[in-house]
Amino acid sequence: MRDFFPGLAGIPAAKSSISFVDGEKGILEYRGIRIEDLAQHSSFLETAFLLLFKQLPTLHELERFTWDISHHRRINDRIIDLLKLFPEQGHPMDALQAAVAALGMFYPAPDVQDETIRYLTAVRLIAKLPTIVAAFAQLRRGNEAVQPRDELSFAENFLYMLTNQIPDPVLTKIFDVCLILHAEHTMNASTFSGMVTASTLADPYTVISSAIGTLKGPLHGGANEAVIHMLEEINSADRLTMYVDNKLLNKEKIMGFGHRIYKVKDPRAIVMQTFAQQLDSLGNAQSLFILARAVEKYMETRIGSKGIRPNVDFYSGIIYHRMEIETDLFTPIFAMARVAGWLAHCFEQYQQNHLFRPDQIYDGPHHRSYQPIELRKPHSN
Ligand code: ACO
Repeated sequence: MRDFFPGLAGIPAAKSSISFVDGEKGILEYRGIRIEDLAQHSSFLETAFLLLFKQLPTLHELERFTWDISHHRRINDRIIDLLKLFPEQGHPMDALQAAVAALGMFYPAPDVQDETIRYLTAVRLIAKLPTIVAAFAQLRRGNEAVQPRDELSFAENFLYMLTNQIPDPVLTKIFDVCLILHAEHTMNASTFSGMVTASTLADPYTVISSAIGTLKGPLHGGANEAVIHMLEEINSADRLTMYVDNKLLNKEKIMGFGHRIYKVKDPRAIVMQTFAQQLDSLGNAQSLFILARAVEKYMETRIGSKGIRPNVDFYSGIIYHRMEIETDLFTPIFAMARVAGWLAHCFEQYQQNHLFRPDQIYDGPHHRSYQPIELRKPHSN
């Protein structure tokens, strides 16, 4: 009998120098640099450069990369027209996936080994994803899309396009750190999905749209949105034990907890928690943070011993909620950041390509006869 590993758990699917995770010690490094250091000292664009080009940029390299990204933020009017055709109540992840696939028709990149094309494609994808997300958000509110502004920083420009106002510098900085923390995370469902697509030598737009589709699910990036729905459902601290107990009794998952790799608290959640707390102390909006801390404490007593602790999605949603961003935009924001990591893996795949074509263990019947339709009995479900 051949071994079978459901979910490919523990099976290496690639050799990669992009990021490293130690799930026992709670360590995450991008190109060898701890994420805590990047969160403290770097910016999202500098981190994206590091992921794509293996080292931190010089001042000149960063200025050029930033200029290139800033000057590729605009999206074609026909992409805006496409977004206008989608239902307002449609999920923004679906709009993003469709628009990113469509970008590939405007900027064909057939030669995936050409370095100039690869650079331009990376710049376009990193630059245009926020514009698509913000444009869909504005259009479904009945507004015109807000044009990007070249002179604003990456995070500042996104928040500006989303709200039509120059954002507060403290919020901008926290948002930028959230992007850094979401930019990459070794092998995971969406990265694997993108790499499978890249292994067919499909262009990066197709690769990124595959990854976006995979990120959407609530067991992966969609968990940040699900956390807010869960906290809203719990509503008050006196209901939380009953809520958690019921879920666990019914073998249901508590959103924002657990991770295939981390057996300690996700190091990204630790940084995010600090910011969620900082934001919580700034304003008077309903405090989901205090409720979230109570859920974390109770979960620790219930299943902490199994290594089920908060993951990146537990506190990121609370930060975005506190910034008054619509809940269904949380996962698209995750995608805006993760595109840097996806592209790094996509380019690594192109360079050491071997078509992904796993095997399966067949456990169905053999030697069945073909029955004429008039003799077939209805299925009993
Ligand atoms: N709530 C309650 N129990 C949990 C949770 C949770 N969030 N996560 C795991 N468990 C329990 C399982 O019930 C199972 O218990 P059992 O051994 O008694 O049957 C055990 O822990 C192992 O769980 P699996 O689902 O087999 O572990 P896996 O490694 O496949 O799961 C996953 C990882 C999918 C992330 C899971 O923890 C989960 O569904 N979490 C909730 C969704 C979530 O927050 N996803 C975001 C992950 S981070 C990211 O993708 C960016």
